[in-house]
Amino acid sequence: NAITVFAPATVANVTCGFDVMGFAIDAPGDTLELKLTDSKEVRIVEITGDEGRLPLETERNTAGVAVQMYLEHLGIRQGVDIRLHKQMPLGSGLGSSAASAVGGVYAINKLMGEPLKVEELLPFALEGERAACGFAHADNAAASLMGGFILVRSYAPLDVVRIPVPENLYITVIHPDVEVPTKQARRLLKEQVPLRDAVTQWGNVGGLIAGLMSNDYGLIGRSMQDVIVEPLRSTLIPGFEQVRTAAMAAGALGFGISGSGPSQFTFSEGKATADQVAAAMEKEIQALGFTYQVYVSKV
Ligand code: HSE
Repeated sequence: NAITVFAPATVANVTCGFDVMGFAIDAPGDTLELKLTDSKEVRIVEITGDEGRLPLETERNTAGVAVQMYLEHLGIRQGVDIRLHKQMPLGSGLGSSAASAVGGVYAINKLMGEPLKVEELLPFALEGERAACGFAHADNAAASLMGGFILVRSYAPLDVVRIPVPENLYITVIHPDVEVPTKQARRLLKEQVPLRDAVTQWGNVGGLIAGLMSNDYGLIGRSMQDVIVEPLRSTLIPGFEQVRTAAMAAGALGFGISGSGPSQFTFSEGKATADQVAAAMEKEIQALGFTYQVYVSKV
């Protein structure tokens, strides 16, 4: 009647795919411990690694909301104590809120004897996202839940497709210690998109998916361009252009904001290049005077 699970961090948007593309990385992530109790209540009994900043109230906590929605949906009145161990920075653009929600709903489904399939858990995790940032975007949560690279083909109805990626595709992600809450980063965006920008963007989305599926690293690199969201959000990220220039000079295929930032990511062909890119990005971030974390992982 107890379980411990790990839910990985994720990179959402992947340049041109705002709200529709994302993938999981090996580390960091969240660890959650769930224990069934006789209390009939879903309780967040402990959170570590958040410097006391996340809400303990079930209705305001992404993991609490996801677990509660799941139990309500199945009509189960079950007490659960949740211990949440954040092992990644908050407001980092690495899908922190999604990882907590996904870990919670995955764990409770296991404890209940897996009445739902993994894909069927996504709507509950999305309610956690809604609680965190006001919109139930699925790009982080689907990637954290299903692993690998995902495309949200449609939101209504929800249709998530798994995209195969080249064997030797690596990601470098750097997180400068600046906080950009997703809520704030979404408020910057415009409701309307000029047609010519939309054309550029959907050409790139198609190109990126085609490149991933056909192992065409050149096409992947050419398609990693975002003319809609990045120009607005990059203004919240100090040194964005310098870090991009350094990463591209070190051999990255492409560069962009991870989720809503401030983390930035690149794709590289091979681990050696991804490591070189990491070193180049670190040097730039250090020169800007920020502390940071850097992660290199297979996509
Ligand atoms: N697609 C979401 C956004 C991801 O860009 O707001 C947030 O991590």
